[in-house]
Amino acid sequence: MLAGKHVLIGITGGIAAYKSAMLVRLFVREGAEVKVLMTETAKRFITPLTMSTLSKNPVYADFFNPENGEWNSHVDLGLWADAYVIAPATANSIGKMAAGIADNLLLTTYLSAKCPVFIAPAMDMDMYRHPANTSNLETLKSYGNTIIDAESGELASGLDGKGRMAEPETIVNSLKSFFDARLLGQCVLVTAGPTYEKIDPVRYIGNHSSGKMGYAIAETMAQQGAEVLLVSGPTGLTVNHPNIRRVNVVSANEMYDECLKLFPLCNIAVMCAAVADFTPEQPLNEKIKQKSDLNLLLTKTQDIAATLGKMKGDRILAGFALETDNEMMNARAKMQDKNFDFIVLNSMNDAGAGFDTDTNRITIIDKDGSETAFVLKSKKEVAKDVVSHILKLNTLQQ
Ligand code: CTP
Repeated sequence: MLAGKHVLIGITGGIAAYKSAMLVRLFVREGAEVKVLMTETAKRFITPLTMSTLSKNPVYADFFNPENGEWNSHVDLGLWADAYVIAPATANSIGKMAAGIADNLLLTTYLSAKCPVFIAPAMDMDMYRHPANTSNLETLKSYGNTIIDAESGELASGLDGKGRMAEPETIVNSLKSFFDARLLGQCVLVTAGPTYEKIDPVRYIGNHSSGKMGYAIAETMAQQGAEVLLVSGPTGLTVNHPNIRRVNVVSANEMYDECLKLFPLCNIAVMCAAVADFTPEQPLNEKIKQKSDLNLLLTKTQDIAATLGKMKGDRILAGFALETDNEMMNARAKMQDKNFDFIVLNSMNDAGAGFDTDTNRITIIDKDGSETAFVLKSKKEVAKDVVSHILKLNTLQQ
């Protein structure tokens, strides 16, 4: 929530400065108190009068007020702000920030700010992807700043590519999720997708899991400020949040090894993967020929969730159950066997639920036996319900 927050907006000299007027308006509309800092070049793109009128505060640009000599303290501005948003941030200013150069009030304020800093780059696509700029952005990220990635589309140069400043709504939403974040400082392990069990170099045993549910949970967790370790079987999905570190695995065995390594680093784990229960005892290194007789011997894989359940301690551990029959009874038994705090039941018998759909209908069953049934929703909405449930448990535990 942004109401009452002190937001300092730094505007550097790029054409996207015209969007900063809307940015200020949106923050004011959210109830934030806004002050604006501009570089000399920014003033050529948009006037200080526009920005002071919209922000309802004087605009800062010089180290001192040229009329009365009054000192504009970058330290005071940095201390006043709950968040410093530099939008647009030109390649020039990004380079100076990364190098610690402080030749204007916007930059001295950046160096002395104690609050979280958000940087929204804007420039032409060739500048944006130049290694000097990408490595400067990496440096700024490594200092703990949040980079609000530029978007693709038509640029002021007339070219089409990545470099446009993120839309003001996107910038405001980034700050909203930052201040809403209830899992800041927490580490979450999420497993997702299917596993593939090798038969020979061209064949495997797999299942229809798309990974969508697990990825949606990982993203919702990251939006709440958590560092997410996503151990993923083979999927065609991409990760869309800087707080998610994806670890790719193929087989149940590999997923087991990664989870055992990562679980001790985490406070919360959500087991969404559809892990194969059996794997070929002796995978072959040469293709099985059509003419050969085939008897495939399978051996049991390790139960990852049950192993983590034994190591659990006071961590929150949740899992999924996809059932075709005796749903409630089977799900309750799984929750107990694997020492879950709660289990999310989805039934293959429900239309719109299960593998490779964009929707799901779940019932959450808690350790104390209580059940909460939800209507059919998109997997993204279902992820929010699951994460809210975790947040409730997390609050109870703190
Ligand atoms: N799970 C796991 N490792 C396995 C098997 C399952 O971590 N080797 C996890 C799943 O990610 C899920 C939960 O355990 O959170 C239940 O998985 P599910 O496939 O529904 O059940 P199984 O335990 O495999 O039992 P069954 O196949 O007999 O229903």
